[in-house]
Amino acid sequence: MARLELDGKTYELPVVVGSEGERAIDISSLRKDSGYITLDESYGNTGSCISNITFIDGEKGILRYRGIPIEELAEKSSFVEAAYLLIWGKLPTTEELSTFSALLTKHEMLHEDMRFHFEGFPPNAHPMAILSSMINATGCFYPQVLGDGHEQFLMQAARLISQVRTIAAFSYRKSLGLPNIYPKPTYKYTANLLHMMFSEPYQDFELLPEIVQALDLIFLLHADHEQNCSTATVRIVASSKANLFASAAAGVCALWGPLHGGANQAVLEMLEQIHQSGDNGSKFIEQAKVKNSGKRLMGFGHRVYKNYDPRARIIKKKCDQLLAALSKKDPLLDIAKRLEEAALSDSYFTERKLYPNVDFYSGIIMRAIGIPINMFTVMFAIGRMPGWIANFKEILESLDGHISRPRQIYNGPQDNHYIPIGKRK
Ligand code: ACO
Repeated sequence: MARLELDGKTYELPVVVGSEGERAIDISSLRKDSGYITLDESYGNTGSCISNITFIDGEKGILRYRGIPIEELAEKSSFVEAAYLLIWGKLPTTEELSTFSALLTKHEMLHEDMRFHFEGFPPNAHPMAILSSMINATGCFYPQVLGDGHEQFLMQAARLISQVRTIAAFSYRKSLGLPNIYPKPTYKYTANLLHMMFSEPYQDFELLPEIVQALDLIFLLHADHEQNCSTATVRIVASSKANLFASAAAGVCALWGPLHGGANQAVLEMLEQIHQSGDNGSKFIEQAKVKNSGKRLMGFGHRVYKNYDPRARIIKKKCDQLLAALSKKDPLLDIAKRLEEAALSDSYFTERKLYPNVDFYSGIIMRAIGIPINMFTVMFAIGRMPGWIANFKEILESLDGHISRPRQIYNGPQDNHYIPIGKRK
């Protein structure tokens, strides 16, 4: 129990301890008992749920899906297997994995009428806008899957994970005015996405195993990250009993912003800008340290990690491996490494515990694969889908079933009155 003294009274508040020893003070009865609420404007200190899915220790730089270290999964698993693990809470058996993979293949095609929706977007529409709209639209095309029950949920999850990839590829093709390439049932998940994005009706894209594996790794590393902005959004929407497609579409919108998933696009734009200006990075670093300069070292810093993001470490290594395998050199990788070195020996960054996050190097891999910058955040969304689905499922199965509804401290005008329009100054 924690004890809180307020207005001469003592309130006892239960202490909740998680399986990794994280501690929280349960204040859920505080307002009822004392009239007070707690205030934590950007939720830096607020646990919004008890979850069994993903564990992060930001101080030590630890990330685990269902207890399994991300490094182990990165080395031994695949995106589809990690998706199964996140959603169903255990590693699949051979049979379970092949059933799940078969479902992904079965549901990979979009309803043919959805192509009319793609035609309605202007050619320069951001693919994240198309993605969120089309995910929501998917729910309208398959109302029969929106019901309750295990079988229905399995089908919804498989359809969403599979079709988000088809939607992403179609939105990319649409942005270039190219004909859609339909999925090939013989291809595995990530190979199929690359096929749909880069094959032509007259020529299949060459699926180099190094490229397929690197993108699959990016998806796996992005698959969940506990209560970040987009996942918390998905849970809030889900708590209103909105369907999975609507909840995931909301997650895509939250992910889009440059302080969240949009940072991978912002990092590449920053690196390109530094490259074109001829700066070796030091001028940019100086600007990023000035408050209100409008510049930040994108891909650095994290709300939870106060240490090196373990995903960034894995991605950095993969960057070097992929460029070597493709015999490519990328000046932006050199700039990124220089920026990292400079930042990590600068007290501004070290004192604030600002380290590279997942977005710092992922864009360089995507660029090497040939994915355009405006599709980077879409790739993040494809990867994050299993995490959103797992969190949606947790809400669906939670026993209390309460809607998420924060409170506020009102600080606006008091005792104001309506003035007829003719008398207003
Ligand atoms: N460059 C320069 N200064 C920074 C940076 C940065 N990238 N990040 C934080 N700071 C500074 C802030 O100005 C602040 O300084 P102050 O104490 O002098 O006021 C201090 O570090 C703390 O920053 P906050 O913004 O309060 O930290 P918060 O936890 O709210 O934000 C965030 C985390 C949004 C990720 C932030 O570090 C940032 O904007 N990073 C750049 C964008 C980015 O890479 N986002 C991707 C995050 S990972 C993901 O979502 C997948």
